[in-house]
Amino acid sequence: MNWPARQQQLDQGLLAVRELWHPQPFRELQPAWCKRWPALDRHLLSLSEDESSWFNDNSEAALGLLSDFLPSLADIACMARLPQRASQPLARRRSFWDWEIPGRKREQIEAFAAVARGGAYPVLDWCGGKGHLGRLLALDWQVPVHSLDVDAGLCAAGAVLARRAVVDQQFIHADALRVEGWPQFGQQVVALHACGELHRHLVRQGVARGVAALDLAPCCYHRGVETNYQPLSGPLELTLTRDDTRLAVTETVTANGRETRLRDQALAWKLGFDAYRRQSGDGDYRNFKSVPDRWLRASFAEFMQAMTCRENLPPASARVCVEFEAAGWQRRHAVMRYSIVRHAFRRAIEVWLALDLAVYLGNAGYAVDLGSFCPRQLTPRNLLLSAHLS
Ligand SMILES: C[S@@+](CC[C@H](N)C(=O)[O-])C[C@H]1O[C@@H](n2cnc3c(N)ncnc32)[C@H](O)[C@@H]1O
Repeated sequence: MNWPARQQQLDQGLLAVRELWHPQPFRELQPAWCKRWPALDRHLLSLSEDESSWFNDNSEAALGLLSDFLPSLADIACMARLPQRASQPLARRRSFWDWEIPGRKREQIEAFAAVARGGAYPVLDWCGGKGHLGRLLALDWQVPVHSLDVDAGLCAAGAVLARRAVVDQQFIHADALRVEGWPQFGQQVVALHACGELHRHLVRQGVARGVAALDLAPCCYHRGVETNYQPLSGPLELTLTRDDTRLAVTETVTANGRETRLRDQALAWKLGFDAYRRQSGDGDYRNFKSVPDRWLRASFAEFMQAMTCRENLPPASARVCVEFEAAGWQRRHAVMRYSIVRHAFRRAIEVWLALDLAVYLGNAGYAVDLGSFCPRQLTPRNLLLSAHLS
């Protein structure tokens, strides 16, 4: 795969339709694209609740829907589609390796290990938590493993598990962003869901120190981004704000019915509060701090009381609360449907971010592979970037 060419195409493609994915429907009563593509606007607003949820949770399907109105988007769908990485069964998996790992996490780790190739180099498990991945690789690849994490409790619990499994695994209790001496020349570094700057720092340090190989499943790309994302691979046309970067990780394929209902209610209530604030002020959207969960478990009137007090607004009477709760649910209908447009580009933005790492590693002399290591139902953060010195 020619990763730099793919990166350039996706960069240009996303830039050309920034007006679709950049505006946040929560903040804008009617995104500007509604006027430019009124047929799309009408179609989205006519979608049922089930259809709306489906498209919001499936960016590829959403991009397909949008392509009916803007045929050029089909190219972005192609560029955002990455192959599934080849996997091979684990050679020496033991039945006891997975003590104390929740089911979904165990499956993610096994899928990661089945795709990453190793055995030739000592391993560093970056931000490894209790070192479950490192423990499996120590067993399967028969190599010494170091697992590094900032949480002393996780390191201690991991060391107990390593002794029980009789594997060659040491724990390093350290801050990955400050640690001296890791990663090391000639190591293979693995990182499953190291967030934002933790994985970017690893990629930069890995190249600087000459790691032999690197297998990384990135997540939470926005962590550590202050205002705009700073590409590692060099200047690109597209600028992603922190919120754009966060768009890559906003889907919730693992939500159950109750969680979905709570999420819907939270959105409607926040929109109800936003409508009240717009009416009490100049009509523009204004940011507010995150809302504590317990406020969203009370009644709407109690929620409004807490919010108006915190945000220095006049209190809302019981009658006004009824009015703005209804307004919130009504706006939620449109916001959910307009969000389909933004969410359609979620995977494309994620692939753009992953390509930045891939091209950086390629420029540094590594042979690179990038694709999914498991179905997105297991984890939506299912991209695995592998690099080895060629
Ligand atoms: C999403 S978890 C992934 C853990 C493990 N790789 C897994 O997949 O089970 C992220 C891990 O990063 C660790 N972490 C967060 N900040 C860190 C830092 N500054 N240095 C090292 N580890 C850090 C957390 O303690 C946590 O264990």
